[in-house]
Amino acid sequence: MSQQVTEQVRGHYIGGEWTDGAGDTFESENPATGETLATFERGTEADVDAALEAADNAFEEWRDLSYIDRAEYLWDIYHELRDRHEELGEIVSRECGKEISEGKADVTEAWHMVEWAAGNARHPHGDVVPSEVAGKDSYMRRKPRGVIGCITPWNFPVAIPFWHMAIALVEGNTVVWKPAEQTPWCGHVIAEMMDDAGVPEGVFNMIQGFGDAGAAITDDERVDTVLFTGSAEVGHEIAGKVGGEPGKLAACEMGGKNGIVITENADMDTAVHSAVMSSFKTTGQRCVSSERLIVHEDVYDEFKDRFVDIAEDIAVGDPLEEDTFMGPAIEADHVEKIQGYNELAREEGATVLVDRFELEESEIPDGHAEGHWVGPFVYEIDYEPDLRCLNEECFGPHVALIEYSGDIEDAVEIHDDTPYGLAGAIISEDYRQLNYFRDHADVGLAYANLPCIGAEVQLPFGGVKKSGNGYPSAREAIEAVTERTAWTMNNADEIEMAQGLSADIKTSED
Ligand code: UN1
Repeated sequence: MSQQVTEQVRGHYIGGEWTDGAGDTFESENPATGETLATFERGTEADVDAALEAADNAFEEWRDLSYIDRAEYLWDIYHELRDRHEELGEIVSRECGKEISEGKADVTEAWHMVEWAAGNARHPHGDVVPSEVAGKDSYMRRKPRGVIGCITPWNFPVAIPFWHMAIALVEGNTVVWKPAEQTPWCGHVIAEMMDDAGVPEGVFNMIQGFGDAGAAITDDERVDTVLFTGSAEVGHEIAGKVGGEPGKLAACEMGGKNGIVITENADMDTAVHSAVMSSFKTTGQRCVSSERLIVHEDVYDEFKDRFVDIAEDIAVGDPLEEDTFMGPAIEADHVEKIQGYNELAREEGATVLVDRFELEESEIPDGHAEGHWVGPFVYEIDYEPDLRCLNEECFGPHVALIEYSGDIEDAVEIHDDTPYGLAGAIISEDYRQLNYFRDHADVGLAYANLPCIGAEVQLPFGGVKKSGNGYPSAREAIEAVTERTAWTMNNADEIEMAQGLSADIKTSED
């Protein structure tokens, strides 16, 4: 699809065909302008059923190809992602409001994942395991699980689908995918790429639509594994249901209430830079964004002054302009949610330091009055374990400064006191403090002297506690989409058992 907006209704991609766009529809909206970008068919249970049937039917033939042959299709997509970098980066920015360098980075992250998954096809798989018995060989084999249901979020509308699908496909599974309802255009372009690459019919299927279509995928018994990245509410529901079904697996990555610890030994430039990046990139709408800055009393005032100065000035604006740092929030409901959390912090006793929730008219770019604009909201608050504003994820540019006294142990205690555990960072020049954080912070992704955003695809991406179970990306996703067989073969003429077990067969004749 070109970037031209047309009246055409874009359909689903099922069994190698585009559907005709009949039935209920929904629109994709540019969050910076409120304009309609394109219209899409809204998936029903019948659409999901057809996609699952196609995926189920395609499985046997697809799994019989070699890893390397399957990866060949992905290499074509890798090249198309690179060739269409600028175009697709701009579509990402227009559809989800991330500023343009982030839009392009999303596409780059996607081809990195495809490169990792397709490249991995030529790498050794599994382990050779020694046996007690000289004549025996044991080794690990992996088998694809079957049909993988993929549910992905709007904030990384190109990268995250490939975290799930590149791995699932190279490992020999077939896929039914539902992109986020906020970013169907990106979903459509990815389906075009699968089509252009000639991925055999039924191996990849895409259903556009909302949570009801997603639930029809994740609940269906033909789905062997669900890969989910998105909100904690939906993820927990999926993990709960799937956990009750024997033989079905779910790998879910959910949100966070991520914190950065800034100790008395922090370099202040690194601290301020890391905190600004972590709190305001993507308008705070990454699941790894930081909403809690836990700062030692010795450096608190200096940090606060510098952080507040930048938050007052940070450039909010048109995502397509290169000098924008923060684009809009994704949708009107989300602006309301952010406002609710800002109010909640006030009610819970926050001292507000920066409130740019309602931007000045002069700050809103021309022609963008209908955009979903929000600016930074920064507050300080005395730490208390039960404050909702310190425990619940807002998913916006809503940041608490929490002053602590004492040692690194005290900081990490505050840091770990949330139900979530996705990402976190420590800023310090003292290696003992860094190591303490590394070993005690309850997070899946931990950083030292860096922002807590920006993980590379070859790392396992996931968290602990309420942030998720399993890692729906890279090497760890392979666990979720394959089964392992421990294969043992006898090379000797006789049967000999391990553990000293007798292999003699004794009969009443003996
Ligand atoms: C997300 O936070 O929703 O680590 C995904 C990062 C990106 C992925 C973020 N590579 O910031």
